[in-house]
Amino acid sequence: MVNIRESNVLVREFDEDRDVNLVGMLERNCEIGTKKGVSIFTNSTMGDPLSRIRFYPLRIILVAELLESGEIVGVVRGCIKSVGTSAGSFLKMGCILGLRVSPNHRRKGVGLKLVRSIEEWMMRNGVDYTFLATEKSNDASKGLFTKKCNYITLSSLAIFIHPTSFPGKNISKDIKIEKLSIDQAISLYKRTLRAKDLYPMDMDVILKEKLSLGTWVSYYKDEGWLNLQSKVEEENFIRENPRSWVIFSIWNTCEAYKLQIKKSQTLRFLHNTLNQARDKIFPCLRMPVSDSLSRPFGFLFIYGLHGEGENLGLLMESVWRFTSRLDETMKDCKVVVTELGFSDPLAKHVPQDSSMSCIDDLWYVKKFTGHSDEKDDEMLMKAQAGNVFVDPREF
Ligand SMILES: CC(C)(COP(=O)(O)OP(=O)(O)OC[C@H]1O[C@@H](n2cnc3c(N)ncnc32)[C@H](O)[C@@H]1OP(=O)(O)O)[C@@H](O)C(=O)NCCC(=O)NCCS
Repeated sequence: MVNIRESNVLVREFDEDRDVNLVGMLERNCEIGTKKGVSIFTNSTMGDPLSRIRFYPLRIILVAELLESGEIVGVVRGCIKSVGTSAGSFLKMGCILGLRVSPNHRRKGVGLKLVRSIEEWMMRNGVDYTFLATEKSNDASKGLFTKKCNYITLSSLAIFIHPTSFPGKNISKDIKIEKLSIDQAISLYKRTLRAKDLYPMDMDVILKEKLSLGTWVSYYKDEGWLNLQSKVEEENFIRENPRSWVIFSIWNTCEAYKLQIKKSQTLRFLHNTLNQARDKIFPCLRMPVSDSLSRPFGFLFIYGLHGEGENLGLLMESVWRFTSRLDETMKDCKVVVTELGFSDPLAKHVPQDSSMSCIDDLWYVKKFTGHSDEKDDEMLMKAQAGNVFVDPREF
């Protein structure tokens, strides 16, 4: 149990019965973004402070409470997971998520106290490294983590966002998209994830989550490929790989929370669960605030994207068109999103049209204890991790 009492602020563990409404209120009052004349609200009926860490067995929420009044002025989440690296080792990684300090109490050291407290929890749980993601334009967060807490850049990524209305949604007749069973997906990911600099060790758990809608492969029809009638354990499930192919999975955030856009004088983001996606995607989203968007809506997140071969452009386009079509059939889904590292071979093949938006994202890392592998240090501590798996549970 974390219980840090310093000056007039107490950092303690979140107590669901006592704190759920107060944390909700704090998050609804947190303001991130610029003035653009549009407001984005989360649908308050879906507020769930645990939403981003619920999937992890080792997780914590800490709150900062003012001793005099009992007011909750800050919150942070943390979770711990095992990740594999391209160097062939396995690391215990702590993830810092959803850090928020009430606008009226910023610049008083509350954020720093919360980060130090969550780091202590991680250290007690034996993590090798901690990491977090933040928008490149978030000076407060960058200052806090780099100047005060000694984090360094791990990776630069791009978040791609497209409204569902993708022009001409027909998928080329030359391309085949096939759905895999969960066992087939696990088997194929086992072979492909090792190409990533960092990837989760529990891909099977992610694929079995109810928010995961499934896994598909896209390839050129004339090349033939999978024998999906065969069982995974049968040798001919995966024949020789075609020359070019893409595997992808889809995560349905619409089930977890909804967003709402309203016109207003100032851009205010009102949060009740902490999700960096909401913090990041909307300032850049060139979406008209039409009637349909003023009702609560969500998005589909394409994850586990991996491609091999020369002709990836048309295949990536098919992935977006396929997901946009699926998005249209899902109640209240209006946007398709993915995130890729700067050196992911697929990043340059994301289809670009005038409604595609792109946001720069940064991952920071800090080394904690124990683990010392030269190759891991080289990759993690020198911003060499350019092709990483973006975990849909944390997005
Ligand atoms: C980022 C955030 C949590 C910082 O909380 P805070 O309580 O104000 O931070 P602290 O007072 O502990 O500041 C610690 C250091 O962070 C840096 N920092 C904080 N706010 C800053 C700002 N607006 N601009 C530049 N640097 C800033 C400074 O180095 C500061 O030290 P200093 O005050 O001695 O110069 C807060 O601004 C916030 O809730 N922002 C909105 C949500 C968000 O962006 N969360 C982070 C997502 S990863």
